[in-house]
Amino acid sequence: MSKISIIGAGSIGATTAFALLQKGVAREIVINDINQEKALGEVLDLMHGSSLCRPCNVTLGTLEDTKDSDVVIITAGLNQKPGETRLDLVDKNYSIFKDFIPKIAKASPDAILLVVSNPVDVLAYMTYKLSGFPKERVIGSGTVLDTARLRSLLGKYFEIDGRTVDGFVMGEHGDSEFVPWSSLRIGTIPVKSFSEQYSIEWDKETEKVIAEDVKNCAYEVINRKGATAFAVAVALVRIVEALLRDEKTILTVSTLLNDYCGVSDTYLSVPTVVGKNGVEKVLSVDFSDEEKEKFTSSARIMREYIDRINGK
Ligand code: 2OP
Repeated sequence: MSKISIIGAGSIGATTAFALLQKGVAREIVINDINQEKALGEVLDLMHGSSLCRPCNVTLGTLEDTKDSDVVIITAGLNQKPGETRLDLVDKNYSIFKDFIPKIAKASPDAILLVVSNPVDVLAYMTYKLSGFPKERVIGSGTVLDTARLRSLLGKYFEIDGRTVDGFVMGEHGDSEFVPWSSLRIGTIPVKSFSEQYSIEWDKETEKVIAEDVKNCAYEVINRKGATAFAVAVALVRIVEALLRDEKTILTVSTLLNDYCGVSDTYLSVPTVVGKNGVEKVLSVDFSDEEKEKFTSSARIMREYIDRINGK
C-alpha cells in the first residue's frame, strides 16, 4: 500500500503521475500545486482513466494532505526556458523550496524525498538541509535520466538494446556532467572492442559527440516542445519502483557525498544502490585521471552554488 505525493503539476509532475498510474506502482497518488485549477484538471484527467489501471486513488491535495507519504516527488518550481541553463533557476526555485520543504517533512517524517526540480543537485542538498532528514532519505533524480539518454543513444548508434549498455553519466545533472567511458561496457564488452565486432566506427571523437548529444538532450527537446516530460517521467518511475520494491538496484541518483574522490558535503550523481531505505550504498568508480578531473570540476561548480545560497 504505497502513497506517493507529487509536488508540482507541471509537465513533469503530471506526466510522472500518468506513468506511475500506468505501471500500477502506487495505491494512492496525491497531486499538489499552487495552481489548484491546473492540478485539479490533471487529477480529473488521471482519475477518469484510473478504472482501466490497477486500483489507485488519485487526488488533489494540500501539503498537509501529503501526510504519511512513502515517497514525495518534488517537481515544483520553474523549468528552463529556451536558452536557460538549469543553474539559472537556482535562486527562484530555492526561494520556493525554503517555504514548502519543512511543511512536507513535517507531514511525512518517514518519507523518502525525491527531488527533481532544477538545479537538482543543489536543490537536493538544500532539501536535505531544510528537511532535517537523514541523507539516505533525500535523493535527487540526478543523472538517472542522462544515463537513460546515454543508453538510448548508444543503443541507437549500435542498433542494439540500450538496456545492455552498462555505463553511466556522472556528476552534475547539467552542463558539467560527463561519461566515464573507461568503465563503460556493452554486454560486458568494452565499447571499442564491441564497435570492432560490429565494424562500426568508434574513437575519442565519437565519445565526445555522444557525450555532448546526451548533455544537450534536454535543450533539444525544450527548444522544440517547451519542456521535457516523458523521459524524465519514466526515469522517476524507475527510481520509485527501486525504492518501493526494495530492489537494491544501481542507479545514478544524486546523493550526499562524503570523501568521494575527495568530494564531501555536496550532492552529485554516482552509482548508488537504491532500496527501501533510499540510498543504501554509494559505489566508487575507477576513474581515469581525466574523468577524475571532470568529476571534481563538477563538484566545484555545485559547491559554488551551495555556498552562494548559504551566504544569503
Ligand atoms: C531534463 O534533463 C530539464 O532537467 C530536465 O529533461
